[in-house]
Amino acid sequence: MSLDHRFPALDDIRRRARRRLPRFVWEYLDSGTGDETAMPRAMAALDAITLVPRALGGAPKPDLSVRMMGRDYPLPFGFAPVGMSGLVWPDAEVTLARSAARHHIPFGLSTVAAQTPEHLAPHIGDQGWFQLYAPGQPEIRRDMLARARDSGFHTLILTADVPVPSRRERLHRAGVTNPMRMTPRILAQAAMHPAWALATLRSGIPTLKTLEKYGDTRTSRSGTEHIGYQLRTAPDWAYLETLRREWDGALVVKGVLHPGDAARISKIADAVWVSGHGGRQFDAGPAPATVLPAIRAAVGPSFPVIADGAVRAGTDILRLMAMGADFVMLGRAPHWGLAAFGAAGVDHVVHVLRAGLIADMGQLGLGRLVAGLDQTAG
Ligand SMILES: Cc1cc2nc3c(=O)[nH]c(=O)nc-3n(C[C@H](O)[C@H](O)[C@H](O)COP(=O)(O)O)c2cc1C
Repeated sequence: MSLDHRFPALDDIRRRARRRLPRFVWEYLDSGTGDETAMPRAMAALDAITLVPRALGGAPKPDLSVRMMGRDYPLPFGFAPVGMSGLVWPDAEVTLARSAARHHIPFGLSTVAAQTPEHLAPHIGDQGWFQLYAPGQPEIRRDMLARARDSGFHTLILTADVPVPSRRERLHRAGVTNPMRMTPRILAQAAMHPAWALATLRSGIPTLKTLEKYGDTRTSRSGTEHIGYQLRTAPDWAYLETLRREWDGALVVKGVLHPGDAARISKIADAVWVSGHGGRQFDAGPAPATVLPAIRAAVGPSFPVIADGAVRAGTDILRLMAMGADFVMLGRAPHWGLAAFGAAGVDHVVHVLRAGLIADMGQLGLGRLVAGLDQTAG
């Protein structure tokens, strides 16, 4: 029986991923911060958005492609940057990058990934976006930008919603430290998941490879303060202006929820990315879907708006687009596919989202995707 029959929805894939991962790895991927209300709120906000089908429109042949920041994407979604992907499954960054390249959709490589931009260069094709946690030292920043550019990454994401570390209480409860310490408790959890444990033993304990050049990635001043935090600064408007001067490719600011910030960013960068960091930074933040209309109004009709958060189906992608997004990114979902079925699972996640989009566009009588889904009113 095909994956589509046994695992037709992302929730099915998520359940299998959870079973296949040691508890601490699942907690790392799944957790938020505080009481973890932000993600359920983002999900509920998506569920509350209804789209009105149009009758008697025939069956339009849906065109899922979008053009954004001067590039054509055959699908309106891509893979958001996820730090330490390689902890979720060995070589995750390469597997995800290859899948993104096959589908011609963006892959965001995190500053705190377990692989370097150089290592990904042969795999990523023309789909590389590099995510920056703003290094405080200009030499390190310029070096990182040069490494990303020379490795073929054409779009730079400045993440703006991590000015300070968050608490992530659930990780403390699960005994996860940063950098990882292999305590007896963690080792016992790993031993109960031999597929993960053997694969990880074969490829080695993942580390913050891109940062190794700049310091010791194994030391930690406190539980959360790995080198990623030691190197980075909290970026401000002057930092963004500096990046604009130093990076000649497309520049995206990620982690924006306020229309005033979005309006100001639209004068400097090439896109704004509406995101609450998957609920990992600030538990009281609004659901991305609820702030999208005001942000769209603030930046105007043609400025690119990307959104993410709690997307679990093609329907959710349409909902975010109806609220004003041009493009949607997913953080956890591709990792569920990876943990559940390896590379085939990542492709299956893409398939489920694409199939859902096609089915829903048929229902809506929608031939093309544009922010606001204006055609439904036509
Ligand atoms: C385990 C994990 C690690 C993440 N690491 C980063 C990161 O290094 N940089 C970044 O900009 N966002 C990071 N994010 C946030 C994602 O890019 C994205 O905003 C979020 O996951 C979207 O929500 P979703 O997981 O519901 O799709 C991370 C998210 C998760 C789940």
